[in-house]
Amino acid sequence: MTRKIAVLAGDGIGPEIMNSTLGVLECLQQEFGFSAELEHAAIGGAGYDQHGQPLPEPTLAICQQADAILFGAIGGPQYEGLDRELRPEKGLLKLRSSLSLFSNLRPAILYPQLADASSLKSELVAGLDLMIVRELTGGIYFGEPRGIRELENGEREGFNTLVYAEHEIERIARSAFDIAMLRDRRLCSVDKANVLEVSELWREVVCRVAADYPDVELSHLYVDNASMQLVREPKQFDVMVTSNLFGDILSDTAAMLTGSIGMLPSASLDVNAKGMYEPIHGSAPDIAGKGLANPLATILSLAMLLRYSLGELALADHIEAAVGEVLDQGLRTADIAAGGDSVGTTEMGMAVVAALRRAADR
Ligand code: IPM
Ligand code: MG
Repeated sequence: MTRKIAVLAGDGIGPEIMNSTLGVLECLQQEFGFSAELEHAAIGGAGYDQHGQPLPEPTLAICQQADAILFGAIGGPQYEGLDRELRPEKGLLKLRSSLSLFSNLRPAILYPQLADASSLKSELVAGLDLMIVRELTGGIYFGEPRGIRELENGEREGFNTLVYAEHEIERIARSAFDIAMLRDRRLCSVDKANVLEVSELWREVVCRVAADYPDVELSHLYVDNASMQLVREPKQFDVMVTSNLFGDILSDTAAMLTGSIGMLPSASLDVNAKGMYEPIHGSAPDIAGKGLANPLATILSLAMLLRYSLGELALADHIEAAVGEVLDQGLRTADIAAGGDSVGTTEMGMAVVAALRRAADR
């Protein structure tokens, strides 16, 4: 069966890291009999440059028809002055919402080879393997009304709306419980129920869903405490589930625990597990075009794509093992080199391909 994969390289380091990842995909096709048809499309700043929109119509159509979407990164200083509606971020947000990609999985895994890269003491993070499940199409990111308005006295005020309907809470809770069932069966729901009504409802619905998952141990934390616990004793967590904004913040913290945001993939899924896969890091305009970026987060995003949307578990395992192998060999891009010797984007990607070819020969 030939799978359709939409490829959205985007801006900044996006094209470079995507290039390396497509090398890995090509290797799967040559060595492992995997069959994929790729459709490239413009998004973010590239979408604006080519079509005047951060999410051009043809791009959305290609994504709608694809079995899965591989995404690089978006954004850059040259787009910061644009109208909010035309900014690269808007393209990403519209894509998430047009495709109902409500469940965002953000794993934070510390590779043993990189234990020293973390800013925390290595005993606190060694073996860390935690999954943040972030609600991605609701909450304050999308709530209406929103805007900046002028008051009668001439002063302006900015306002946004934090709103969650029960069905939105219920489906993200189910998604998180399902993932917990595949892991260590511990789920921590993060809210601000001591202050916000929306969180009170969140907690109530999560508790209701919990009745269907008697094997999962459910706990609750307020978001301020959760952020403290994440840096105090991160290994206490297995799966965390939270709203869009809290998840945005906590997942950056969790990523940093692992030493490099350049290592972490993510998945954004709809109810049918169709999804978009992207590295957690951004477009890093400061190093764009220099061949220095770490392609591993995008390569690991491809592994997630194969696992969650295409059911190709063995191929996903092969990619993850190949990444482990290149780290064992001591290869490091600058972001994970801790000041030591480093390799570039292309070299790192080629090393993963070489490890995959060795696996195919075994
Ligand atoms: C993320 C990013 C995005 C978000 C931005 C680029 C819109 O920070 O994916 O975490 O806030 O969701
Ligand atoms: Mg973020």
